[in-house]
Amino acid sequence: MEKEKKLLNTLKGKKYDIPPVWMMRQAGRYLPQYRKVREKYDFMTMCKTPEVATEVTLQPIDEFDMDGAILFSDILVIPEAMGMKLQFIEGKGPVFESPIRNKGDIDRLTVEGIEEKLSYVFEALKLIKMSLNEDKTLIGFAGAPITLAAYMVEGSASRNYIYLKSLMYNDTRSFNLMMEKLVQALEIYYLNQVRSGAEVLMLFDTFAGIFSPFDYERYVFPFVKKLVKKIKSNTPETPVIYFPKGGANFYKLLTELPLDGVSIDWSISLTDANKKLGGKFTLQGNLDPVVLFADYEIIERETKRVLEEGRSLEKGHIFNLGHGILPKTPVDSVKKMLEVIRAHNFS
Ligand code: CP3
Repeated sequence: MEKEKKLLNTLKGKKYDIPPVWMMRQAGRYLPQYRKVREKYDFMTMCKTPEVATEVTLQPIDEFDMDGAILFSDILVIPEAMGMKLQFIEGKGPVFESPIRNKGDIDRLTVEGIEEKLSYVFEALKLIKMSLNEDKTLIGFAGAPITLAAYMVEGSASRNYIYLKSLMYNDTRSFNLMMEKLVQALEIYYLNQVRSGAEVLMLFDTFAGIFSPFDYERYVFPFVKKLVKKIKSNTPETPVIYFPKGGANFYKLLTELPLDGVSIDWSISLTDANKKLGGKFTLQGNLDPVVLFADYEIIERETKRVLEEGRSLEKGHIFNLGHGILPKTPVDSVKKMLEVIRAHNFS
């Protein structure tokens, strides 16, 4: 058995016959052992209790021998630490009681004390790191500014993002102030994650794709760029992976960023994504999570297709899904996918 950190090394340019693998949202409701813990606590209590967060972080490692362990937490702990009241409502998802709607609301967001307020995250990372085998890579993460802003302004999941985009278009100055505060909070958050043991940093930009390429470039990208540059100057040795979901139309912009990896959704092939990204980054992805609901022949066919495409990437491939694993995914389908990956003979 290899004792190397395959996932970390792939981001640093090393090539392996079989790529490292993990899944976004790999600790979650599709796992019976997660549901068992979840019966005892609500979701935020799990996030805020380092021993529990550690236990569920390790579940997919024990079950599937994944190469990466991603901290169990949520992107929305940041707005909560900035003063917003957050609830997770069964069947509805995250809800902010008083969404951000104007400059006054934005002025009340505070970056002060963020490190102390989020100390439960850093404690969890330290605990996870102590329990993790040396060949596993510990992944820290946060939500990108616009993805956090989408929840903060809309208040919950949204269809058209009318509040968010109206604020962005009509009061750009206040919108920029909010984005600026988020960048400040995220910089501190990421730095402390690395100090607490995170070896790779993921930046989840789930809502990047709700913008036209023009608006993404004008209103969103400057803050992604600022944040990524800050992270890389604070902790240059720690690889950063950006996941702009639905962002294939503006991949070209990303070639300016000091990123190490880009996580690709299933709307584009790895081959085409790599061309648009100029072959500059390790690519992560990009099996459609719904393939795991299909028959085994389809799982095998699609897994092999992704593997073969990943094989030809200059900067290497990390096998993953194109977005988070879905709550009702059959565990045996995940095992099937992993079997195909680990037994694959490249042509
Ligand atoms: O990847 C992992 O396993 C680490 C943990 C993780 C969670 N959320 C746990 C979680 C990560 C990385 C996230 C990120 C996250 N959270 C994103 C960005 C990535 C993505 O998937 O798009 C977003 C948009 C959120 C916000 C969020 N949190 C929503 C919309 C929901 C409700 C929907 C759902 O899946 O329940 C959550 C709750 C949440 N976050 C759960 C988990 C395991 C489910 C909580 C439960 O047990 O009820």
